[in-house]
Amino acid sequence: MTEKFSVMRSVVRGVGAYLPERVLTNDELSKMVDTSDEWIVQRTGIKERHIAAAGETTSMLGEKAARAALAHAALTPADIDLVIVATSTPDYTFPSTATQIQAMLGMTHGVAFDLQAVCSGFIFALTTADKFLRSGSHKRALVIGAETFSRIIDWTDRSTCVLFGDGAGAVVLEAAWGAGDNADRGVLTTHLRSDGRHRSKLHVDGGPSATQTVGHLRMEGKEVFRFAVGMVTDVVKDAFAATGLTAEDLDWFVPHQANRRIIDMSAAKLGIAPEKVVITVQGHGNTSAASIPLALAAAAADGRIKQNDLVMLEAVGGGFTWGAALLRW
Ligand code: UT7
Repeated sequence: MTEKFSVMRSVVRGVGAYLPERVLTNDELSKMVDTSDEWIVQRTGIKERHIAAAGETTSMLGEKAARAALAHAALTPADIDLVIVATSTPDYTFPSTATQIQAMLGMTHGVAFDLQAVCSGFIFALTTADKFLRSGSHKRALVIGAETFSRIIDWTDRSTCVLFGDGAGAVVLEAAWGAGDNADRGVLTTHLRSDGRHRSKLHVDGGPSATQTVGHLRMEGKEVFRFAVGMVTDVVKDAFAATGLTAEDLDWFVPHQANRRIIDMSAAKLGIAPEKVVITVQGHGNTSAASIPLALAAAAADGRIKQNDLVMLEAVGGGFTWGAALLRW
């Protein structure tokens, strides 16, 4: 090993996404609860969301996203030895959605497990996969965010039902040697945080041990909003401090797609130019752990994100959990 190639990096080889066919528009929602397209667009930027069909589970969405990411990477399931699925809406309490997807992909080798950090799930899963790959224990990872939040929404609660949607996204990461500097392709730095004191602000009021039910999502939206921008900007600044890079160095900012106003305020506070911000929330609402890979897939497919671009990812979610990952595409 020469001095020059001294650090193992997790390089993105492919990205893919899947949204269920059924589209639920704001106008349709306004016939179900007391709301309007105008209110939803003005407060959130969301125009429509996708809803999984009856019997269409999180693992089915995740499998489609995973196959799209593998095709983009020109790889097959045989090439993968690690599958991490970020989800808060698993098919079943157990076995994990990850082992379901592993089986659907025809994989009998490697390891697959779920990770739950609500809307920050993709950043937590990417960070975990990065640490596996950097350690040398695994070679190629499928990192999947897949959710069917429509199944835990209280469809009579206008303060939450307009915000969420179903979907899945995935990336393929591959371990590759780098020089150990900011010019390397791959994940450059990751930063995760959590603070369990905030559980009541965004939670599900059911679960196997507490209630023996699935429960419904409950949120104090104003409170979440109040904390979100500060948490996001803190952890993004940690990523800048760890690398010595700045907002000007970024090519793309790909935030968790929950609310247009949170995204705009966070980018402004960080000094990130609006044209560098990838926003897809209008088309799918808040898909929790799926939102970042959905946005990445859209921006890679339309040619915005190109090889060697510097990309900042960030998310905040229930718990609270929050995190940022800086990578070179
Ligand atoms: O990953 C993190 C996920 N969570 C989030 O991103 C949510 C963060 N929070 C938010 O995005 C915003 O707080 C919301 C979009 C949820 C709400 O916006 P807001 O500007 O904070 O509204 P609010 O909760 O203060 O409600 C303002 C008014 C209230 O009526 P009154 O009390 O002023 O008469 C609500 O009852 O808007 C009413 N309202 C609605 N009106 C029409 C709440 N939901 C709706 C609705 N349609 N869907």
